[in-house]
Amino acid sequence: MTEQLIDPIGRRVNYVRISVTDRCDFRCVYCMSEEMTFLPRAQVLTLEEIATIARAFTELGVEKIRLTGGEPLVRANITQLVDEIGALGLADFTMTTNGASLRKHARRLKEGGLTRLNVSLDSLDPARFKALTRTGDLDKVIDGIRAAKEAGFSRIKLNAVILKGRNDDEVLDLVEFARREGLDLSFIEEMPLGDVSDHSRAETFFSSDDVKALIEARYALTPSAVTTPGPSRYFSMSDSDSRIGFISPHSHNFCDSCNRVRVTVEGRLLLCLGNEHSVDLRAVIRRHPGDMARLKQAIIDALPLKPERHHFTTDGDVQVVRFMNMTGG
Ligand code: GTP
Ligand code: 5AD
Ligand code: SF4
Repeated sequence: MTEQLIDPIGRRVNYVRISVTDRCDFRCVYCMSEEMTFLPRAQVLTLEEIATIARAFTELGVEKIRLTGGEPLVRANITQLVDEIGALGLADFTMTTNGASLRKHARRLKEGGLTRLNVSLDSLDPARFKALTRTGDLDKVIDGIRAAKEAGFSRIKLNAVILKGRNDDEVLDLVEFARREGLDLSFIEEMPLGDVSDHSRAETFFSSDDVKALIEARYALTPSAVTTPGPSRYFSMSDSDSRIGFISPHSHNFCDSCNRVRVTVEGRLLLCLGNEHSVDLRAVIRRHPGDMARLKQAIIDALPLKPERHHFTTDGDVQVVRFMNMTGG
């Protein structure tokens, strides 16, 4: 029988999020500071090391892997990694991207076995999109989403982080866009990772319940038959296939059913997004190259470090010094 990863309070870990780079061609105001510096190459896992870690997890019963960043598509030779992980035959193999390079890569990603894509999109106004991402070009992202559809990706999901006073007036526009383009859309409450210095998170907090109320002024939302063990609560609209999700770490804690762990860009196995308990998988791989049994044991031994829940608050304090781009969200 395949081994399984079960934590001390009985939660089965079957999902791993791997950050493949801390770099990004955007600088979203809630994710990075403007003067962000990036890690030297020697500290970052090589593509071979990432593929080895992915294989170890699948041998431990993991069925879903998501590649994140930073922006995964700025990593050189990322499509080779997708080919390698795609060959592992996962039930779900996905990527979270800012979408700007999808015109170039979507077809190869699909051929490599990626099953799904999530694309971050916080505004449909070009000037505002530029302000929120600091460097992003909205047209490129929209073209990238269309390229992904042309490449055969279905159920592409948009992620929108809603900040009070910055994009809360675009909730319905984003819903209309998702409906027109045949996309799913998740709204996310901002999380206190890293000192982003751009704004006070206490002042920009906008709850999922408030987002939901704005949508319900136009559309009835009914709980979707699709439920995931993850953080998103999904809703359907009667006249559209698009699903609306809410990821609400503050207002609806979902840690009881948490099924995931993360691997940071430096190869730290993080047991929870909201704290620093971790095990250094990079050290295991570099000290004992090729020793799969040892790597798997290090992963199994880490599970007791998984906390029962995160302790994020909305008071504006940075609760985790690590920025989101190291962690992969
Ligand atoms: P699917 O349900 O597989 O489509 O993906 P997802 O929504 O879990 O992943 P995605 O990469 O699109 O992330 C969306 C947002 O959810 C990001 O802001 C993540 O940081 C957040 N998120 C994902 N997993 C967790 C989690 O375990 N805890 C917390 N607090 N946030 C999470
Ligand atoms: N809080 C919530 N979501 C965030 N993301 C990045 N930083 C934060 C944050 N501080 C989101 C991005 C992307 C996903 C990987 O994480 O918008 O969709
Ligand atoms: Fe880049 Fe995503 Fe962070 Fe924006 S949220 S800066 S696109 S990694």
